[in-house]
Amino acid sequence: MCGIIGCVSEKDCYGALYDGLKRLEYRGYDSAGIAVLDRELRIFKKKGGVSNLSAFYARGGTGIGHTRWATHGAPSDANAHPHRAGKIALVHNGIVENFAALRAELEGEGERFFSDTDSEIIAKLVSRAYRGDLLAAVQSALLRVEGSYAVAVIAEDRPGELVAAKRKSPLVAGKGSAGLFVCSDIPALAGTAEYIAQAEDGELIRIADGEIEFFDGALHPVPKTFFRPQEELRALSVAGGGYFMRAEIAEIPRALRDTLAALREKDFAPCARALRAAQRVFAVACGTAYHSALVFADIVEKEAGIPVLCHTAGEFRYRAPVLGTGDVLVAVSQSGETADTLEAARLARARGAYVIAVTNIGCSSLASLADFLLVMRAGAEIAVAATKSYNCQLLCLYYLAGQMLFFKEERLPSWWGSLERLPAAAEASFGCFAEVDRLADRLHGARAMYYLGRGLDLCTAREGALKVKEIARVFAEGYAAGELKHGSLALIEDHFPVVCISTGASLAKKSENALAEVKSRGGYCALFSQYPQVLQESCADAKCLLPALPEPLMPAVAVIPLQYFAYKMCLERGFDPDKPRNLAKSVTVE
Ligand code: M6R
Repeated sequence: MCGIIGCVSEKDCYGALYDGLKRLEYRGYDSAGIAVLDRELRIFKKKGGVSNLSAFYARGGTGIGHTRWATHGAPSDANAHPHRAGKIALVHNGIVENFAALRAELEGEGERFFSDTDSEIIAKLVSRAYRGDLLAAVQSALLRVEGSYAVAVIAEDRPGELVAAKRKSPLVAGKGSAGLFVCSDIPALAGTAEYIAQAEDGELIRIADGEIEFFDGALHPVPKTFFRPQEELRALSVAGGGYFMRAEIAEIPRALRDTLAALREKDFAPCARALRAAQRVFAVACGTAYHSALVFADIVEKEAGIPVLCHTAGEFRYRAPVLGTGDVLVAVSQSGETADTLEAARLARARGAYVIAVTNIGCSSLASLADFLLVMRAGAEIAVAATKSYNCQLLCLYYLAGQMLFFKEERLPSWWGSLERLPAAAEASFGCFAEVDRLADRLHGARAMYYLGRGLDLCTAREGALKVKEIARVFAEGYAAGELKHGSLALIEDHFPVVCISTGASLAKKSENALAEVKSRGGYCALFSQYPQVLQESCADAKCLLPALPEPLMPAVAVIPLQYFAYKMCLERGFDPDKPRNLAKSVTVE
């Protein structure tokens, strides 16, 4: 959620920290701050976006920075990080779960707090433990902390030194010509650091004397291998006034092409035995990634006759799942850092299940704990709303579903050869945008909408509804078209907007019935289908012809006009599509 960065450089580091925070801003944008150390420690922090920090500058080669997604304490200057205690300045991403008890204890001992955050407590604990050895002070302070953290800490009397530590929140270290860094994630360092190494849970990092060292919780040195970050994780740049979300939608054909090329090279043999022997298959993910898992479950069941139990990761881990050796769990996550998805995968590992990860970040926490890894090639996705990563996740999952069928029955699905046509079909779907512009123009005043679909189209409907809620702030529900008359039809009145996705020939008539029911109650209907006849015969007010592909592949294409629709609705309603209210890109807390 929050983004942290730290730098030790021979040059002034304010600019490098500022640029790093700009790249981390998708992790949170409630407030931001930087502390730099020259002869004294200077802290600049402000409610609002990172660009507020451009009004400041201070000299010094040692510093830390933070961009916040508020958990404890409202967004405000005081609650912004870095937090200072004595000689210590600290930034934190995570949640201190024993916050109330620790704060009461420290207040009882006379400590005064200047913020409502849980993070300030860690700064106090480090300051109280600090006797000139920063590494030892951070280690002993963190022994008192329950919950999750990635912290970066500097001390006023230790210029040139920085200590960081991690538990359950991501943390990497990087070396580049601008200095030595710690940071919340690799995409934010891609382009700055030439070499990167990841910290594991319980580890600490010390940057001092021009070196980066890793330690375990008992302060024994841990050897690390530094690697070059994936070049494609460098963020796209968007020209002034442009939005990442729009650029990322435009990139979908490229992302699909690259993902396809990577999948063609992938050797699936290592997971063959696990897939062949699977007693049960689970698919877990959150948000948009969950919708791709739903498509996967549907397809595997239909094609290979293997039932797949699909759950949102946060529910899965708390529902005492029947899961063990011989089972396969497929975990899907763009970032590979989503806390609930990670915990679900850890639970599966602990129970002896075989974990397959589908992620955009080949060196993420999820990737490192998987038995088998599928890395999509979406490239850095900066807008909080997932777009190109969804299409690429689907492509990876189609591939995996095809391989499952192959290992089980030594045949590939009928649509296998059509995977090659996905990038071109994605490009062709941009042809719908002019119609979608008109639709957004007409519907931007709506307060609520339904998205209807059946079968795989229901997954697309859910994803379309999530997008419009997330960025355009219009209440929307993705609904099974056949369920409408079991209650929700009561909400339909004059002009109530209903978007219907109808790409399954066998269910098209049923979806049309639902539209007719809406229409006869005054609702406004928009229909998306790849079948000209379905569109022709429909009573819908707006109609949009999608490019044609075999039906199982349609979710990867039908969603694109809906992503773009949400984007246009967002702009029409005057919001920033890249930074939706209350949200952050990487949900690293539960
Ligand atoms: O990084 P992940 O794929 O694990 O993220 C999961 C969700 O938080 C994410 O898809 C979220 O729903 C998107 N912001 C939706 O656009």
